[in-house]
Amino acid sequence: MPKNSRKTDIVHGIHTCHITTMDLVPPIHLTSTFRFRDADHGAGIFGGTDTGYVYTRIGNPTVDLLAEKMALLEETQGAVPAASGMAAVASVALTLAGAGDNMVCCSTLYGGTFALFNQDLKKFNIEGRFLPPFQCCDDGQIRKLMDARTRFLFIETPANPTLDIIDIERWAAIAASAGIPLVVDNTFASPYLQRPIALGADIVVHSATKYLGGHGDIIGGVVVGKGEIIERIKSEYFSHFGAVMSPFNAWLFLRGIKTLAVRMERHCQNAQKVAEWLEQHPKISRVFYPGLPSHPGHKTAQKQMDGFGGMIAFEVKGGIEAGKAVMNRVKLCILAVSLGDCETLIQHPASMTHATYTSAERNAAGITDGLIRLSVGIEDVDDIIEDLDQAIR
Ligand SMILES: Cc1ncc(COP(=O)(O)O)c(C=O)c1O
Repeated sequence: MPKNSRKTDIVHGIHTCHITTMDLVPPIHLTSTFRFRDADHGAGIFGGTDTGYVYTRIGNPTVDLLAEKMALLEETQGAVPAASGMAAVASVALTLAGAGDNMVCCSTLYGGTFALFNQDLKKFNIEGRFLPPFQCCDDGQIRKLMDARTRFLFIETPANPTLDIIDIERWAAIAASAGIPLVVDNTFASPYLQRPIALGADIVVHSATKYLGGHGDIIGGVVVGKGEIIERIKSEYFSHFGAVMSPFNAWLFLRGIKTLAVRMERHCQNAQKVAEWLEQHPKISRVFYPGLPSHPGHKTAQKQMDGFGGMIAFEVKGGIEAGKAVMNRVKLCILAVSLGDCETLIQHPASMTHATYTSAERNAAGITDGLIRLSVGIEDVDDIIEDLDQAIR
């Protein structure tokens, strides 16, 4: 088997078949609990002197297989699957920070993450501090928000929904100089297009619901990082907060990941064509896609990504009313939140995925009322463009 080929790892990964069953595809271990050989075995596992599975909230072979696959693809040692992307984000925050601590984040985040950092964690006296828009590359601004109680830095790149590109190496250097971890939400890129840990980040989180699953049929998340931090997150968060992934979902994610490379390549090709087409359209005022030379993050994206991804944001001339008309008139594209599915999905961040921001907070994050987000699918690109064309006209 060729070594060091990401495409091959995506398909073959870490699965070695069972010696007696010789299955091509790993079985699903649908069991809540596991038998002990005898009382000493059970006591030994609990006491840490023996190995074995105990209970699926604490560990399960199918879920572990997904963890190993994600660690391989993100080029690190450990991973822990979670019930959702939000469970993955929350597990990191609640493991790394406690009462009186804070974290410093880029200005634009998925609405759920923003609400968690800006509202919910306040109940635990944990404070989210956010960079002003377009200043995520300003080292001085980042350092200004940090203090002795800053426990981690958190970025999304490409960011949801503005497609801002954040320089991972730069943030990693700042985090390292302060002796704290950099956490990167890699949902928009997937490990096929971007591997933040190789660029200096310490922890990666995913909404696996999106490109990893790829088929819009499951919710899940993953935290990936070095062995020690993953063990901490497992024991300090997942064991007792309990938001673990089910074995059935882990199995579906393992299946979805097999086609990640081919799907991502088609998403990238289609999105590039759609973005170029939108950019020259007389009724479109702005297009945000990192693959366009006009995008302010184009050069950084070229440096840190292997492709520009399948997500586009754009504004229609005439503002939100014109934008709504486009969303109501599409026939092939589907008006729905989420992203990374085979189908092209269209939605309005200000009133949907980012409604957790107040209007002032959205302005501060650069999320305009007229912004429309498109998750470009893997259909025939001419059909996607034809549909958008009739809707925009
Ligand atoms: C960038 C990003 N991170 C995290 C999440 C949360 O993931 P989930 O919906 O799987 O909880 C989302 C959801 O849209 C997202 O877009």
